[in-house]
Amino acid sequence: MCGIVGYIGKADATSVLINGLRRLEYRGYDSAGVAIMDDGRIAIAKSPGKVAALNDRARAEWPAERFSRATTGIAHTRWATHGPPTEVNAHPHLDQSGDIALVHNGIIENYRALRSRLEAKGHLFLSETDTEVLAHLIGDCHKGDLFQAICDALHQVEGTFGIAVLSARDPHRIITARRGSPIVIGVGEGETIIASDASAILSHTQRVIYLDDNDIAIVTADSIEIRDLHNVPVTREIAELGLDAEAAEKGGFDHFMLKEIHEQPDCLANAIRGRLDHSLGTSVLAGTGTSPRDLAEISRVVLVGCGTSLHAGLVGEYAFEDLADVHSEVQQAAEFRYRNPILGSRDLVVAISQSGETADTLAAVREANQKGAFVMSLCNVVGSTIARETGRGVYLHAGPEISVASTKAFTCQVAVLLMMALKLGRGRRFSREDGIRFAREIESLPSLVARVVDQSDSIATIAATYQKNEHAFFIGRGPMYPVALEGALKLKEISYLHAEGYHAAELKHGPIALLQPGTPVIALACDIPGKDKTLGNIEECRARGARILGIITEGDHEAAEFMDDFITIPRAHPLIATIPAVVALQLFAYHVARLRGCEIDQPRNLAKSVTVE
Ligand code: M6R
Repeated sequence: MCGIVGYIGKADATSVLINGLRRLEYRGYDSAGVAIMDDGRIAIAKSPGKVAALNDRARAEWPAERFSRATTGIAHTRWATHGPPTEVNAHPHLDQSGDIALVHNGIIENYRALRSRLEAKGHLFLSETDTEVLAHLIGDCHKGDLFQAICDALHQVEGTFGIAVLSARDPHRIITARRGSPIVIGVGEGETIIASDASAILSHTQRVIYLDDNDIAIVTADSIEIRDLHNVPVTREIAELGLDAEAAEKGGFDHFMLKEIHEQPDCLANAIRGRLDHSLGTSVLAGTGTSPRDLAEISRVVLVGCGTSLHAGLVGEYAFEDLADVHSEVQQAAEFRYRNPILGSRDLVVAISQSGETADTLAAVREANQKGAFVMSLCNVVGSTIARETGRGVYLHAGPEISVASTKAFTCQVAVLLMMALKLGRGRRFSREDGIRFAREIESLPSLVARVVDQSDSIATIAATYQKNEHAFFIGRGPMYPVALEGALKLKEISYLHAEGYHAAELKHGPIALLQPGTPVIALACDIPGKDKTLGNIEECRARGARILGIITEGDHEAAEFMDDFITIPRAHPLIATIPAVVALQLFAYHVARLRGCEIDQPRNLAKSVTVE
């Protein structure tokens, strides 16, 4: 969603900030702005649309020397919540005096009450945003000490924030704070970079400090002082990002999504490496902090997440029941805290989130902790809020996922869930031999996926047949049912084609009414238990004239007979096969969207990290 960058150092701040914003573009946004400290005054440029438009605007509006001489500034990409994506609603916002500029991620929930109070005192607001209210509130609290003013203002605020503040009255520092929205501070040589996401810091330094909730930091070019909102100093360790700046580049691919699909064999190898014990037929997941006794105590696994991560959880549900004989269920993170989940100390709650910042998943973690469950996370972004709040869990090691459409995170999430289920299973019904066999199957995932990725060109040819349709149905059974849901989500989010995923048996309970001659039905008909029944459901669709694209097992001539088109995946255990199957659907969605001329990496209205409820 929104992105923050702040810079203080010796370099040309405007360029650093705009480049930083470019690194955050993948998060999804609809306007952008920058404020720099120019000759003791704040200069602001803002624009609806892309960062490139902001760059043009700043160059057009500012004299050339202003563009390049500032060494301090803050910048923002906004994903509209309060008011449309216009120039006036874009950040940074100024306080009443015009001396204080603020960028903000999150939502100030009590902004209406604060705004009325400030208006009664004579404040005039230009925008519809909650953020401008906070800028004015800071200005109103300013009695000579910016730090104190920010603390006083933040004490009055309900909601979430990650902020960076620049003041003409205090031009040699930037103040940044967080509650609920991430802030990372890059510790450079004679320069400090503030960002809401480490991607904007990578090209400057690998050394970072993650702020915790209610931390407020005073940042100069060569110092970082962190306190809490009661002005008590706190210590935060410097961490190493361990990320390669190149990992956040397209590397010759047309889109990040295509690059990330192709990276999956390597990502899976990274997610699996060192985590399988082939002699004992189990997995070794160090970060979970569980002893065999802890595992034996678990009576239920509850998986929570949103979107693609929720779908990974649905595959996990099958895996925990099938491999470990443990009751398992998936809950939508957005609903979790509103439905009184019944939880106790023998329930393992696994929060699944690529970004580790999804507001609803974070809230579910807090609810599960409150209720005394055993909580762990499965995140990709190292140091993310969910990873840090759970304190135990497994990182995916998929590398930065830039495309809004999640691909490699999903396959790594499923791979890690399978390893978790294997571990739990070995303490229960799985024999050593069963475990060894399944561990071998997990180990083979990178090569299985490579065989699907290699079919990208032929999948593109198939996609050409389907790109003109406006509706598509995805069907599957057993662990392929969540794959159908994920395939439909991928197609709709990047191609804007209306796509729905259903259990194969569910079509005839209503949705089949929508089938017309030529309507695409994408059927997960791999050679796993239930295939014959799925083939029966395909017959029902064919009888109504649907065009069938099957995902089938290599060499399955019987299944091929039922299809108008098909993509093959290698033969594998049903749970393992979910991963190559979803890769086939990722490629299908990608090529359909490409042929339809869609903006694949940043689809309209979507954000990479959804930090609002
Ligand atoms: O970062 P998370 O995994 O928590 O994100 C959850 C969803 O917002 C995310 O998976 C979303 O559905 C993807 N854009 C789908 O491709």
